[in-house]
Amino acid sequence: MLIRFKGDIAPSEITDQRLYLDRRRFLALSAAATMFPVGRAEAGPLDYAKGAITLDEKMTTLEAVTTYNNYYEFGTDKEDPAKTAPGRLKTTPWTVWVEGECAKPGKVAYDELIKPHRLEERIYRMRCVEAWSMVIPWVGVPLADVLKRFEPNSRAKYVEFTTLADPEQMPGIRSRVLDWPYTEGLRMDEAMQPLTLLAVGLYGQQLLPQNGAPIRLVVPWKYGFKSIKSIVKIRFTETQPATAWNKSAPREYGFYSNVNPAVDHPRWSQAKERRIGEFLRRETLPFNGYADQVAGLYAGMDLKAQF
Ligand code: MTE
Repeated sequence: MLIRFKGDIAPSEITDQRLYLDRRRFLALSAAATMFPVGRAEAGPLDYAKGAITLDEKMTTLEAVTTYNNYYEFGTDKEDPAKTAPGRLKTTPWTVWVEGECAKPGKVAYDELIKPHRLEERIYRMRCVEAWSMVIPWVGVPLADVLKRFEPNSRAKYVEFTTLADPEQMPGIRSRVLDWPYTEGLRMDEAMQPLTLLAVGLYGQQLLPQNGAPIRLVVPWKYGFKSIKSIVKIRFTETQPATAWNKSAPREYGFYSNVNPAVDHPRWSQAKERRIGEFLRRETLPFNGYADQVAGLYAGMDLKAQF
């Protein structure tokens, strides 16, 4: 996503070259991760219901999911978060503040936020705006179930999310690559859509720091950057919240960011994607394949103008 690549090769192509032309290096990285998965010591097993939402597609390996990440607070290279976040990001204790347009604002500790709900596994397709994708078995709770507890009022039209921004723990914050803290937003109906997940784990284990421990958002029909990591604040708002990538490059990253093969990013096509671990590109599906569930949310909107 970084705007530093110039010239004829799209950033997605650079990703491809890194991963697939330099395949040996990637395989070595995977082998190393299998022997000593990065940061595994920090994750514990979760008790969850299997099979809540499944997908008949090959899952991306745990190694790739935990070593090929975007988490700019820990560096802009895909390998940086797995190297830098484990041991640095302190995930206990963890508090999420919930405020804004609601009857019961407050702060909640991680355990309390999750406790009343049965964790479930949901295997989701994830599509990054950089034209690569993964299939990830997340563990979490529907965001709607959590939000309802705070009793959003009739002025609550949007939900804003904020990531921790601590330069002591997050070396990437010293660089001005984004305007910290990282923020994201959803319209209220998107936040309440049953697919929207507050994830606390993947592959049956607690999230690793590089994946956004201890709590992150997962919105499978939107480009990956909407899935904000390590959330410390949730705010109900009347007006559309500012989002980190939209502030940084408004022509390139809109508020909605629905996966849309018909709307190119200004510098590369969104028509196809490289599934991590596969060689041939796949066609990108409208709403990342979740159109049946979510297209109705956008009825009547011009999705080219509101990208
Ligand atoms: N959240 C924060 N706080 N900082 C980030 O840099 N990157 C986003 C998103 N959430 C990001 C973030 C992007 S661009 C992607 S593609 C996904 O996280 C990647 O999530 P993953 O590393 O768990 O696959």
